Amino acid sequence: MPMAATQMVFFLLAVAESVVLQSEARAFFVFGDSLVDSGNNNYLVTTARADSPPYGIDYPTHRPTGRFSNGLNIPDIISERIGAQPVLPYLSPELTAQRLLNGANFASAGIGILNDTGFQFLNVIRMYRQLEYFQQYQQRVGALIGVDRTKRLVNGALILITVGGNDFVNNYYLVPYSARSRQFALPDYVKFLVSEYRKLLMELYKLGARRVLVTGTGPLGCAPAELATRGTNGGCSDELQRAASLYNPQLVEMLKRLNQKIGKDVFIVANTQRLHMDFISNPQAYGFTTSKVACCGQGPYNGLGLCTEISNLCQNRSQYAFWDPFHPSEKANRLIVESIFSGSTSYMVPMNLSTTMALDART
Ligand SMILES: *[C@@H]1O[C@H](CO)[C@@H](O)[C@H](O)[C@H]1NC(C)=O
Ligand SMILES: *[C@@H]1O[C@H](CO)[C@@H](O)[C@H](O)[C@H]1NC(C)=O
Ligand SMILES: *[C@@H]1O[C@H](CO)[C@@H](O)[C@H](O)[C@H]1NC(C)=O
Repeated sequence: MPMAATQMVFFLLAVAESVVLQSEARAFFVFGDSLVDSGNNNYLVTTARADSPPYGIDYPTHRPTGRFSNGLNIPDIISERIGAQPVLPYLSPELTAQRLLNGANFASAGIGILNDTGFQFLNVIRMYRQLEYFQQYQQRVGALIGVDRTKRLVNGALILITVGGNDFVNNYYLVPYSARSRQFALPDYVKFLVSEYRKLLMELYKLGARRVLVTGTGPLGCAPAELATRGTNGGCSDELQRAASLYNPQLVEMLKRLNQKIGKDVFIVANTQRLHMDFISNPQAYGFTTSKVACCGQGPYNGLGLCTEISNLCQNRSQYAFWDPFHPSEKANRLIVESIFSGSTSYMVPMNLSTTMALDART
């Protein structure tokens, strides 16, 4: 039965109102690499993917989703903590209408700060493209709720960006005598990366980002993949540890200066190297039996090749700091997010996310 005109108007008003109401909730946007990709690469022709078992074995559906984790990843746990639904990958066909207003995840496994990072993975969404998609997102949402409200939604959003590890692992150190390592000595490469990263963050700011959580790299040299291929006598790879130790403090400095230039603490940085190093140096204190052996993999430390159905798989994933040769387990991700929310200023500069959220709620 056709609706009467007045009923129709009323119905449309009700829909419009619910769209507005939902847009008042804080949106969440995610940019970066496999540490935060929630499944964009499932839609691409690439070898960097996590869409087959045993990935997702501890996810609520117990099925692979494209997350590089046994269960939840860092963005999921942040969403959980802020009481929001997990944000969908931007390429997901389910990301339409209402759901767009919760935010979007633009991250893509394999990418780096530099365009040439991860070239071996073929078709991945590089940083400049993630930013283009963010612009496109704003146009789509603008058509839904108008330009002004879209601007407010973006300005009020929480943003997470995790990128940089691949610029070492899948670029500078990918092969001996890589093009970048012939072009730059390590300290100069680090300076170059930090200055390129600065440009990306300025662009993000121009696109409306006003609260951005930036994570440094983890202790790159201590991942099972590096222990298996570069480690010396069961220790971490000195060279990759040196890279992380040069990079992280310069990242913090760059962000401090960027905040000064803007005149506001737009960028909050998580010292993920220190945070992650805590459970690498003392796994038992965090309930892990090991931080050296990956739960899923093969070869020494389960650190060689990919995690697949024919890999060794540990029984109890919460006892392992690393799920696969490169990526933390859900349990480790939970510890990382805990520090992001509640860590002291030696982990979170200039302040932790709880303090940040409390400040934002007041304005
Ligand atoms: C990366 O590639 C895009 C598209 O070709 C280009 O616009 C951008 O300037 C490049 N970025 C760098 C740092 O070279
Ligand atoms: C798995 O390990 C965690 C941490 O040691 C422990 O609390 C939990 O009971 C274990 N689960 C099973 C099923 O054994
Ligand atoms: C971080 O967050 C917690 C609340 O979870 C707060 O009690 C603590 O003081 C904060 N630490 C710093 C150094 O800001």
